[in-house]
Amino acid sequence: MDPIKQAVELARAAEGVHRPATLGGSPLAAEGPSQRSAESPFQEVRLRPDHLEAHRIVAHGTSSPNGRYYDMLRTQVLQEMDKKSWQFLAVTSPTAGCGKTVTSCNLALSISRLPQRSVLLVDLDLRRPTVGKYLGLGDNGGVLSVLEGRAPLSSAVVQANIGPNGILVLPGSVSANSSEWMASQTMGALLQTIKRDFRSRIVIFDLPPMLLGDDVISILPRIDATLLVAGIGSTSVADVKECQKHLRRSPVVRVVVNKATESVGSYYGYY
Ligand SMILES: Nc1ncnc2c1ncn2[C@@H]1O[C@H](COP(=O)(O)OP(=O)(O)OP(=O)(O)O)[C@@H](O)[C@H]1O
Ligand SMILES: [Mg+2]
Repeated sequence: MDPIKQAVELARAAEGVHRPATLGGSPLAAEGPSQRSAESPFQEVRLRPDHLEAHRIVAHGTSSPNGRYYDMLRTQVLQEMDKKSWQFLAVTSPTAGCGKTVTSCNLALSISRLPQRSVLLVDLDLRRPTVGKYLGLGDNGGVLSVLEGRAPLSSAVVQANIGPNGILVLPGSVSANSSEWMASQTMGALLQTIKRDFRSRIVIFDLPPMLLGDDVISILPRIDATLLVAGIGSTSVADVKECQKHLRRSPVVRVVVNKATESVGSYYGYY
């Protein structure tokens, strides 16, 4: 069944329920100082497990029981993307607070644990960027410094390491002109540069909510595929249907039903 149709059905069955599940395949769940090294051309930050876990980022290792749901999501998403040789994945949701950033960070860390896979996580939520906060990155100017031409892309990207693994992160920044930036030629040029300079990496874009402005609609034509995060209790059936209209021309690889209880997940056989 189409992932969006499944989401509508799950939302209908569960309006009112905390833990994530994926649709269109299977399950899922939720939850320092820097320097440059000789190996990485980027500013390096070592991530702290306690900080990550306090922000529900659990997929950096195999010890968290919830981390396995992100590993399942990772596998499903990569299978879809590999089939079409897609590189750019947008993570969005109908409305605010559904768990986009938690999902984006966990998915990125989960992918980074796979051999021969690497990730660039880009915070393109210019309204409420929180990737840097959730991962515990310092303030380095973020994507806006690149868009405004104040910094080269290479100095805004951070190499975030944990254990033997690491991801590249382009942290976000707040802009009062979020909508205009998303539709701008400058943004188009930045995405082309990312495609060229990070061609071996899966690029995950943490976006704003779809229905709270035209930011997401503006950028979707430049993205290969979308992961839609619906929040049980905060996303209605009407919200999901409204997103479906905007996503007609953009492939949806998965719908994550976030903040679902274990019982709902079990009923639908995702756990
Ligand atoms: N599965 C979950 N169970 C319980 N709480 C969760 C879950 N996923 C995320 N949260 C919490 O919900 C809040 C919103 O999560 P997050 O910031 O990832 O959402 P968002 O969709 O990115 O929000 P925004 O629209 O503001 O960007 C956070 O406090 C986060 O810890
Ligand atoms: Mg967010």
